[in-house]
Amino acid sequence: MDSRLQQALSSALDDFEPAPGFRHYGRLVRVTGLTLEVVGCQLVMGQRCRVDCAGGATLLAEVVGFNRDVSYLMPLQPMSGLYAGARVLPIPGEETIRVGDHLLGRVLDGLLQPLDGRPLAEAGERVSLMSSPPNPLLRTPVREPLDVGVRAINGLLTVGKGQRLGLFAGSGVGKSMLLGMMTRNTTAQIVVVGLIGERGREVREFIEHSLGSEGLARAVVIAAPADQSPLMRLRAAQLCHRIAEYFREQGQDVLLLMDSLTRYAQAQREIALAIGEPPATRGYPPSVFSMLTQLVERAGNGMAPNGSLSAFYTVLAEGDDQQDPVVDAARAILDGHIVLTRRLAEEGHYPAIDIGASVSRVMPQVVPAEWQSLAVTLRQLWGRYQQVRELLPLGGYQAGADPQMDEAVQRYPAIAALLQQGIHEVTPLADAPAGLRQALGRQG
Ligand SMILES: Nc1ncnc2c1ncn2[C@@H]1O[C@H](COP(=O)(O)OP(=O)(O)OP(=O)(O)O)[C@@H](O)[C@H]1O
Ligand SMILES: [Mg+2]
Repeated sequence: MDSRLQQALSSALDDFEPAPGFRHYGRLVRVTGLTLEVVGCQLVMGQRCRVDCAGGATLLAEVVGFNRDVSYLMPLQPMSGLYAGARVLPIPGEETIRVGDHLLGRVLDGLLQPLDGRPLAEAGERVSLMSSPPNPLLRTPVREPLDVGVRAINGLLTVGKGQRLGLFAGSGVGKSMLLGMMTRNTTAQIVVVGLIGERGREVREFIEHSLGSEGLARAVVIAAPADQSPLMRLRAAQLCHRIAEYFREQGQDVLLLMDSLTRYAQAQREIALAIGEPPATRGYPPSVFSMLTQLVERAGNGMAPNGSLSAFYTVLAEGDDQQDPVVDAARAILDGHIVLTRRLAEEGHYPAIDIGASVSRVMPQVVPAEWQSLAVTLRQLWGRYQQVRELLPLGGYQAGADPQMDEAVQRYPAIAALLQQGIHEVTPLADAPAGLRQALGRQG
């Protein structure tokens, strides 16, 4: 071909733009479990698509993997009416959400649709759904304490603004109640609650009983119960982090409570196994642990002059199961853990926090030395008392042999009274040192 003609042709081709309204689409070729296989269209990881369903309905799905020219999608909504060869239309552009004060007091799902029956105003700022954690060297260090209004935590496991803690407990030992108390009592200006993968009944119970109307007023609740697709559960967890990050960027002190991190890990396990990632640790594929770290890293402080984002993640830990890889991973990536035990709950000691097994790694940086030393003394006495606890009712403990043990036994009622707290009782952080001194019988 004439070279001039070739040049003219190729420049004409460069100028060619697809006709407006022209859309690529793929075809659904296979469905196994929750995995949709799509061919005939180039799809990007994480891209959202609409799948045509019988009867004119559509299903929202997201690309979670691919194998050669087959893309794997997972649904974000309940699947029904899928058929072979259905059209799969990619939704162009990056996904954005509208965040702002209009979300306060609302209960929403992972797609930011209201669950409380009231319409959601088209207000707020448009931000991208995805975000990455701030540069670790530019983050504001954890320096100030955060009041959570729970004596045992304020006094002995002081939380710093920007700290991330795990709440390790088995089922039914008072996790939801404790989260509810913190939501109502904290001095943080905004509370974001993520109810991920728990029973549907719990969502309503948590909102009505644990949170109450005062707690809900400055909270945003994102719920994705267990019956929702694993992708929706992941998304809801990411969404509550994004909302919390937004309020942090607005200079607010934010408290994020996520129940539970274990269910988040299980949702990622379901997805990873479905698309063929081999299981490694106790059925969990390796991607689960990197996803956990990525999620948790988004909490914490931002860069100055941002506010703070402190977070509590509940982790299901039945008995003394140290084998659970999620428990291990969570311990390693969080800046402290609060352990709730069934033994204390059975004794009616609520919140059932095992002081000896719990630790706040930032406490020494956020409280004065005297406070820290009172807390250490109280912990020691608590520990000593536990050694003889079972002997006492049998008369197997003789006073006089060990002065510290005697003090532990004598002080225990006062210590237990300090650590127990009624659901509707509030004790501010400022009262913590005095409370410790009183329980230890020291002068102020
Ligand atoms: N501070 C408290 N004071 C008195 N009772 C409490 C307190 N906290 C928890 N309880 C009791 O413990 C029960 C279980 O609490 P909760 O529902 O918070 O547990 P959970 O760990 O969230 O359970 P699940 O694993 O089922 O989600 C409550 O119904 C209540 O009777
Ligand atoms: Mg619960």
